[in-house]
Amino acid sequence: MPAVTMRVKYSYLDDQFAPDQVEAILREIREELIPSGEFTLGPFVERFERTFADYIGVKHAIGTNTGTGALILALRSLGVGPGDEVISVPNTFIATIGAIVAVGARPVFVDADERYQMDADRLEAAITPRTKAILPIYWAGQCPDMERILEIAGRHGIPVVEDACPSVGAKIGDRFAGTFGRVSAFSMHPLKPLNVMGDGGIVVTNDDAIAAWLRLYRNHGLEDRDHVSMWGVNERTQPFQAIVARHLLGRIEGVIAARNRNARVLDEGLAPLREFIRTPVRPAGHREVYQLFLASATRRNELRDFLVSRGVEVKVHYPIPVHLQKCARDLGHKPGDFPVVERQAGEVITIPSHQHLGPEHMQYTVDCIREFYLA
Ligand SMILES: Cc1ncc(COP(=O)(O)O)c(C=O)c1O
Repeated sequence: MPAVTMRVKYSYLDDQFAPDQVEAILREIREELIPSGEFTLGPFVERFERTFADYIGVKHAIGTNTGTGALILALRSLGVGPGDEVISVPNTFIATIGAIVAVGARPVFVDADERYQMDADRLEAAITPRTKAILPIYWAGQCPDMERILEIAGRHGIPVVEDACPSVGAKIGDRFAGTFGRVSAFSMHPLKPLNVMGDGGIVVTNDDAIAAWLRLYRNHGLEDRDHVSMWGVNERTQPFQAIVARHLLGRIEGVIAARNRNARVLDEGLAPLREFIRTPVRPAGHREVYQLFLASATRRNELRDFLVSRGVEVKVHYPIPVHLQKCARDLGHKPGDFPVVERQAGEVITIPSHQHLGPEHMQYTVDCIREFYLA
């Protein structure tokens, strides 16, 4: 087997949280958070929520424990529940569809387009009198066609909830992901563009009444210590993670710029290999954040094994679409129901392109792929 000449790591957390990178975060925790004893909600969470809302340009940001929790809260805030349908796509992390099921609604799928996003051309056919929300995903950190999705949803009077979990900082024109829907959800899972040292999420809205409901519901329905005005849950962002998130939000534009620079090297380097491996079209005016850099490859599994043997830590997101998972058997789908998603599941490969890699790693990756197909 040829020598591995470079390691192209999939995870960057050891670099991102190296001692010199976390000094300011740990200082704030040691010198401000711990002496304050503000360990449930309070000023550190509020400061992060305000900073995040200002960054994406939305009125209200409400911190949650996870992106999954943010999605569940978003759906519940619109009254989605048993008997309702929510339209989404089957090529996503299971949490999107799990959130629909968790509120008691039925997921209805539409196929994906060639950019791995909800195919807006198929959306209208999936709408029924039971459709209570449309839930497009910013899959992999790319943007779905929000203009068309909003136009169709608006014509039918159906609210849009954005699953922007992978996509803090993504934009269409000058509008950020998460500002198009009635309510939107973000994740701060460690491998998201904005991450924390554990789990975290955010739900956002411009609607004052929905925001007030979300704040109450997130905190047991507590109006104050002694009065509970409605049933709720505990979905409070940890102040520790709010501090981490606020510091890292200050660095996010640099993170996105580095990911875009790396993605350009991959796009350009792979273009001559188009007959073997294709990267998606990047619509003008979309700013992607490359939570995952996806490409569709022939002989995908062989390519994956070859690249891993060369130190390029590629992954597959995901080999089995949600509608064909065991958990979804009650929905009654079968192979062939969503042919684009199913084809993509057999072709898609995730190539590391994060901010702790440089152009030399991208070039090495391109060279390895070229060798696999052409040598
Ligand atoms: C598209 C999508 N939705 C939802 C989630 C759930 O987020 P979390 O892991 O923070 O619960 C994730 C990622 O984990 C995701 O990629």
